[in-house]
Amino acid sequence: MAQEFRWAFIGTGTLAKKVITEITASGWHRVVSAYSRNRENLVSFCEPYGIYAARSVEDAVKTADIDAVYISVTNEVHYEVCRFCIEHGKNVLLEKPFTINARETKELQMLAKTKGVYLAEAMWTWYSDVPNKVREIVLSGKLGRIKSVFMSYSKNSIGYAPRVSDPAKGGGAVLDIGIYPIAYAYRLFGYPKSIICKGDVREGIDYGEMIEFVYDGFTVKMDISIIESNGEACVIEGENGILVNPGFHYAEPAVLKTGDEIKIIEGRKGYLQEFDTVADEIRQGKTESTFIPPEMTYDCMRILDECRKQMNLVYPFEV
Ligand SMILES: NC(=O)c1ccc[n+]([C@@H]2O[C@H](COP(=O)([O-])OP(=O)(O)OC[C@H]3O[C@@H](n4cnc5c(N)ncnc54)[C@H](OP(=O)(O)O)[C@@H]3O)[C@@H](O)[C@H]2O)c1
Repeated sequence: MAQEFRWAFIGTGTLAKKVITEITASGWHRVVSAYSRNRENLVSFCEPYGIYAARSVEDAVKTADIDAVYISVTNEVHYEVCRFCIEHGKNVLLEKPFTINARETKELQMLAKTKGVYLAEAMWTWYSDVPNKVREIVLSGKLGRIKSVFMSYSKNSIGYAPRVSDPAKGGGAVLDIGIYPIAYAYRLFGYPKSIICKGDVREGIDYGEMIEFVYDGFTVKMDISIIESNGEACVIEGENGILVNPGFHYAEPAVLKTGDEIKIIEGRKGYLQEFDTVADEIRQGKTESTFIPPEMTYDCMRILDECRKQMNLVYPFEV
């Protein structure tokens, strides 16, 4: 990249702290302004990096000279904060889940189109190399006819942040981690012919679910949980071989076995790769991401809506 890319950060929580450490170490990214409501937390986030601690979202995106806004607030305010930024003509990278439902996603995408700004989902897995190589392999037909797919993202992560167990913040398993196998299966195989979701819903959130995507000739079965730890895995079995990717959402190496041949698939991953890619796309004048096309974000939100409908999971702010 030719010069530093200048970001405003809205949300300075657990994730923003990890991201800023990784991206600023490269020297290519600078966070120039930031906002979150708790002033003390905001100032302690900003001080070590010399960031302007803004008084509002408006102050953060209008006062400083920025190239884009990165939004990592809790789920229930994604729509409101993102809408504000787009309305003010800003390019936006918005965390997953993009919004609470598909309707909000469509509204933001249409508004971004009207305003001519860049808008993409920070589904970082798909800015990494391994998932894209796995997709190429699947689409190439090297595995032959797909027979079955199993995916698991089951990790006792309910204590990761208070938002995960809070219905008022759009908490629960499917929006927090279920979205990863869902987006992965969608990117490899497209929108399923039908979706079956059976969840464990209590106290206003889903603690986990078994989801089945039905395609022509095979199904993708997913085991998702934020209270159990059955591990993370993706196993794709075809007539001509098998692909195993234990850390699929972390974009960790995958193993491809066809006949007697075993091949390790590996590559770059991480927030820096994501932020570098987004900065490049914005500099090239693009308004959408090649890696997370808008229809992928929208379709995955439709799938999440369908899963929540089948589980009868409605958040308090939706009634
Ligand atoms: N891509 C990934 O790898 C990944 C990983 C983890 C999480 N995420 C996503 O990232 C988002 C944040 O997760 P997290 O774990 O960082 O949550 P978190 O630790 O709870 O942080 C949320 C941040 O948002 C701020 N915030 C909340 N409401 C706000 C508002 N109305 N205006 C301004 N700031 C507001 C909070 O500060 P105040 O309360 O002080 O305002 C806090 O700084 C979630 O949507 C999550 O799904 C993505």
